[in-house]
Amino acid sequence: MCGIIGIVGTSSVQERLVESLKRLEYRGYDSAGVAGFAVDGVERRRAAGKLKNLEDVLAVEPLTATVGIGHTRWATHGPPTKGNAHPHRAGRVTLVHNGIIENFAELKATLKAEGRVFETDTDTEVVAQLLDRELSGKPPAEALKSTLDQVRGAFALAVMIDGEPDMLMGARRGPPLVVGYGKGEMFLGSDALAVGPFTNRIAYLEDGDFVVIDHNSAKVFDAEGHPAQRAVQTVPQSATLMEKGNYRHFMEKEIHDQPEGCQRTIAAYVDTLTGHAAFPGGIDFATLERIQIVGCGTAYYAGMLGKYLIERLADLPVDVEVASEFRYREPSLHAGSLVIAMSQSGETADTLAALRYCQAKGMKSAAVVNAVGSTMAREVDVVWPIHCGVEIGVASTKAFTAQVSVLAALAVAAARARGRIDSAEEQRLVRVMLEAPRLMAEAALAEDAIRKLVPELARARDVLYLGRGAMFPLALEGALKLKEISYIHAEGYAAGELKHGPIALIDEATPTIVIAPSDPLMEKTLANMSEVAARGGPIILVTDAEGAKHAAPGMKVIIGPACDPFIAPLVYAPPIQLLAYHVAVHKGADVDQPRNLAKSVTVE
Ligand code: AGP
Repeated sequence: MCGIIGIVGTSSVQERLVESLKRLEYRGYDSAGVAGFAVDGVERRRAAGKLKNLEDVLAVEPLTATVGIGHTRWATHGPPTKGNAHPHRAGRVTLVHNGIIENFAELKATLKAEGRVFETDTDTEVVAQLLDRELSGKPPAEALKSTLDQVRGAFALAVMIDGEPDMLMGARRGPPLVVGYGKGEMFLGSDALAVGPFTNRIAYLEDGDFVVIDHNSAKVFDAEGHPAQRAVQTVPQSATLMEKGNYRHFMEKEIHDQPEGCQRTIAAYVDTLTGHAAFPGGIDFATLERIQIVGCGTAYYAGMLGKYLIERLADLPVDVEVASEFRYREPSLHAGSLVIAMSQSGETADTLAALRYCQAKGMKSAAVVNAVGSTMAREVDVVWPIHCGVEIGVASTKAFTAQVSVLAALAVAAARARGRIDSAEEQRLVRVMLEAPRLMAEAALAEDAIRKLVPELARARDVLYLGRGAMFPLALEGALKLKEISYIHAEGYAAGELKHGPIALIDEATPTIVIAPSDPLMEKTLANMSEVAARGGPIILVTDAEGAKHAAPGMKVIIGPACDPFIAPLVYAPPIQLLAYHVAVHKGADVDQPRNLAKSVTVE
């Protein structure tokens, strides 16, 4: 995923382009660039690597423009070099692109055959060359429409046309693009965060839209080229905020924000006075036959946790699948089912495609998302927001527990609707859920004990995470956290599965993290733990005071609060996240922007 900003301004845009790119850098950070209309033509500055490198270039060669565009890149086609950095130029066209052009090779061959010379390996340059060709004999908006009609794939674009210095054009098919409304200035951006420093009045472009903006207006056209109206909304301040506070990293802040975040999430789905769990959207859980959950990465693991909670409480069948595999196996689906797309960004291409596949089969659809202006949120029948505020750290933390909170509340609401629990049990479970934020904060108090374990863990080449029941998806999530920010290979396993092969991996150099707070399965997990200890494998046991009594001499223990098993996945997420965080910090890794990653992957 890349980040896009465009400004039709009345004063120098350089600082504002850079400020916006800083907010967008979490979307991709392989390279960055800006361009603007100078008095003698288009000026362009680009740099490989982090945004800081572009700032160094601008310090020496500043922009003079008041109208310009900017881009942060997560490379899909072509290595992350300065030459492949956006903005790209071809003839009269300068543009930036987020997405992937699927037919770029055939378009490139056609354009080359017409004599056009290409400078880069990118699919983006093909769009610039094509648009430059279409500009012959057509006004800019018509030329853009003609270009988009020839392109297959996903894109969000911001475009400058030489000779039109008071205008920018934008377009989207897949990745999001918003129009920001200022005072005598207009903006284009990948999301509300991008234009947040300049305005909170935003219109979300629909899929297929393209737009022409000048200093005072936006002319929006739909995919057929007909003029379209897109409502201008005033977004909440939280959607445009991006502050670390006194934390070193956004991830650290977001881990510690979880109790407050989950408080907000749970309060949105339970009535704290009546103790009743209410779900908006009119889904009749009493007659619902089945739920199909699709998601990727952390969102997928949140969905797995939802399966455990919903099936156990509501006796409602739940299938959970990795979105990128789902539609390609041509699953047998039930029109009477509900598909739930799990996604922090609401823009993940794999999840979006799986969602659309289910919708095409006639299934009712819901999205458990953080970005309520996202494509997924706009395409489903029911949106269940997770209300955890903007998540900047590429490694998802507060969105994970917020998603699990939504599904926990759904489990209670569905169980009640299906008569599986009575009102008293519903109220008890709601009370248990309302306890979760306090217990999550208490669990995070183990941070000092966690820090002490880090030097040894940071030396590991491989780490195993074990869990049973609802602790198994948490083991998978813990392994993903460690992998993606510390670059240590880690795998999560169902504790009972270890003896069926993976136990061969156990040796003195392979630490095993066992997640086993007191619950009916703890005894069995502790037995698996003994199998590891018997083979000399170092163990870190994550449990409560009761479970800690089972720790063998020399075993490291992280102790969290005792809690109802229903909320254990929420309560024991912060210690697991903090363990990965501190290992990454100890290793000097780039915690908020790990190598090769992007915050939301808007390509398949
Ligand atoms: C989580 O730490 C990862 N960054 C990644 O797995 C992420 O959860 C996945 O790409 C899904 O993103 P989404 O929730 O925005 O759809």
